[in-house]
Amino acid sequence: MANFVVVGGSSGVGLSLALRLVKDNNRVWVLSRNTNEQLEVKGIEHIQWDAATEEFPIDRLPSEIQGLTYCPGSITLKPFHGLKQADFQKDLDINLFGAIKATQALLPALKRANGSSVVLFSTVAARMGMPFHSSIAAAKGAIEGLSVSLAAELAPSNIRVNVIAPSLTNTALASRLLSTPEKVEAGGKRHPLGRVGEPEDISAMAAFLLGAESSWITGQILSVDGGMSHINRG
Ligand SMILES: NC(=O)c1ccc[n+]([C@@H]2O[C@H](COP(=O)([O-])OP(=O)(O)OC[C@H]3O[C@@H](n4cnc5c(N)ncnc54)[C@H](OP(=O)(O)O)[C@@H]3O)[C@@H](O)[C@H]2O)c1
Repeated sequence: MANFVVVGGSSGVGLSLALRLVKDNNRVWVLSRNTNEQLEVKGIEHIQWDAATEEFPIDRLPSEIQGLTYCPGSITLKPFHGLKQADFQKDLDINLFGAIKATQALLPALKRANGSSVVLFSTVAARMGMPFHSSIAAAKGAIEGLSVSLAAELAPSNIRVNVIAPSLTNTALASRLLSTPEKVEAGGKRHPLGRVGEPEDISAMAAFLLGAESSWITGQILSVDGGMSHINRG
């Protein structure tokens, strides 16, 4: 039985991951602003936390943690000329600075585990140029840079750091982009594998990266994107 912290585990990928981890007999602490009745399961404890505004609630978490994932994110799609500095700051606050806050606070607990894993989230749009993605791509690009640097710095402490870069996935975050069957179909057609992602597609990779089976993997940006980023369909 291992201890995992899932920030942003009340919906989407994080919820799917929390349920997956607890099913495998782990103990899971979910941090988010709202709870969810699906989290009322033995082995999951919910802690209310706003990553954008509050200090990390370190006192409510165990002293030894085998895995941390930080799921809060945003999808800001606007033309560059219309973006204000405050828009960039908002994306940085939720995507980057929240992740830094959680990782820094839990570093001693991750070190004590003597073999632990951090999984952060990017997006396909950080390395594949897409119009109107400048703000979110900047924030997620920062996550990628942070993660490879941390992976190098923390390898001697046996803490692994990896990033998952999803493409369009069927969660609350993407609901505006997938609000009709036509949008779902059109979104699916943009991917070589012919469909958009489901939370389970992404949480399966997150669970693998958090667990011991990936113990020789660190400093990686893993695309889970239906083939979007690396396949040219000719
Ligand atoms: N879905 C996609 O198409 C897609 C594509 C590319 C990348 N991603 C990335 O994948 C990751 C997971 O996304 P998702 O689609 O699963 O998102 P989601 O369904 O919106 O879930 C986000 C989770 O983060 C929590 N959260 C949001 N703001 C928070 C805050 N200020 N403080 C604490 N918790 C907060 C939410 O809970 P509360 O609202 O209860 O706080 C929720 O549990 C994100 O980093 C996202 O950028 C997603």
